[in-house]
Amino acid sequence: MSNPVNIALVGMGWWGQKMLAVLQAAPADIRVVRAVEPNLETVRELCASKGVALSADYADALNDPAVEAVVLATPHSMHTAQIAAAVAAGKHVFCEKPLALTKAEAERSVALCHAAGLVLGMGHERRFEPPVADLLAMADAGTLGRIHQIEANFSHDKFLSLARDNWRLKADQAPAGGMTATGIHLLDLSVRLLGAAESVLCICEQLSSDLPQGDTVAAFVKFKGGGTSYVSASLANPFMSRFTVYGSKGWIDIRDKAHVEAPDGWIVTSAMAGGPIVTREIGKAEPVKDNLVAFARAVRGGDAYPVTGEHLVNNIALLEAVFRSATSGRIETVA
Ligand SMILES: NC(=O)c1ccc[n+]([C@@H]2O[C@H](COP(=O)([O-])OP(=O)(O)OC[C@H]3O[C@@H](n4cnc5c(N)ncnc54)[C@H](O)[C@@H]3O)[C@@H](O)[C@H]2O)c1
Repeated sequence: MSNPVNIALVGMGWWGQKMLAVLQAAPADIRVVRAVEPNLETVRELCASKGVALSADYADALNDPAVEAVVLATPHSMHTAQIAAAVAAGKHVFCEKPLALTKAEAERSVALCHAAGLVLGMGHERRFEPPVADLLAMADAGTLGRIHQIEANFSHDKFLSLARDNWRLKADQAPAGGMTATGIHLLDLSVRLLGAAESVLCICEQLSSDLPQGDTVAAFVKFKGGGTSYVSASLANPFMSRFTVYGSKGWIDIRDKAHVEAPDGWIVTSAMAGGPIVTREIGKAEPVKDNLVAFARAVRGGDAYPVTGEHLVNNIALLEAVFRSATSGRIETVA
């Protein structure tokens, strides 16, 4: 593509810096022209070394006619207002997960972008992991038959070293253990494969840490169209990421060899009806970059961005019910 989409990276913490790093390798599709970070000193040198203009105020990006899209890597509770401001300024939006903490907010953001004809991208890069993309294509083609069940876990202990006043450790900003950090990717893949959820039972416990939102979470989801998904996450055990789908004609189990921060490939085990169990290794890829490139191509009128407004709303409706169930200890209906 000869006409890169000019973006502003908003929020230059852990993930904003990761996105800046991967985008150095994708200049043909997407170009970082600005960064916004209130703590200027933390990234002043980095941005200067990359030739990226840096300022503390989001309005600077919104008022910059060179910026076509904003990429939000800010705390979750800011996403809804920042999307509304971007849409008012006529900018496309790529938002990190979760899109919102309530279904009503998710619906508002999806509707605003849709009405303005702006692309809404989402930080669900797991869909762009090569074995996950293959799995989704096989499911869509019917190769796996009727999808019966999903089992998935995404755990790490990276937050144990965060300062205890970090927003990511606040029960009101990141409720239900690791559900907004990692589990949300698995909920996204679950609604992508099984559609809107009907009900969920979530159990969230604090077992071996002082993390105020709990360190161990498990959610058991029933889908309106049939099928179930068991999604679990720990913020206090070593890295693990596994996604398994069982269908009437075959099953696939995908394990990441490393966290997506520094991908190292995948181990895929599968079996089709009547066939042997097969294990193979898939080489490294950079799904965070590939997701942003897909967003840029959609902005330029290429293939439609694959995470649809319906997926986004279904996912956050389920997330909101997960929060309710984690508090009530009961099975909660998904709105
Ligand atoms: N897709 C993934 O796999 C993935 C991985 C990690 C984080 N994330 C997401 O990225 C987002 C950020 O998470 P993080 O771990 O990088 O957090 P972080 O705290 O490291 O970074 C957030 C940054 O936003 C800045 N900020 C605060 N208010 C701001 C404002 N008004 N305007 C601009 N910047 C502001 C903070 O100063 C901070 O530097 C979250 O939504 C998180 O879920 C996604």
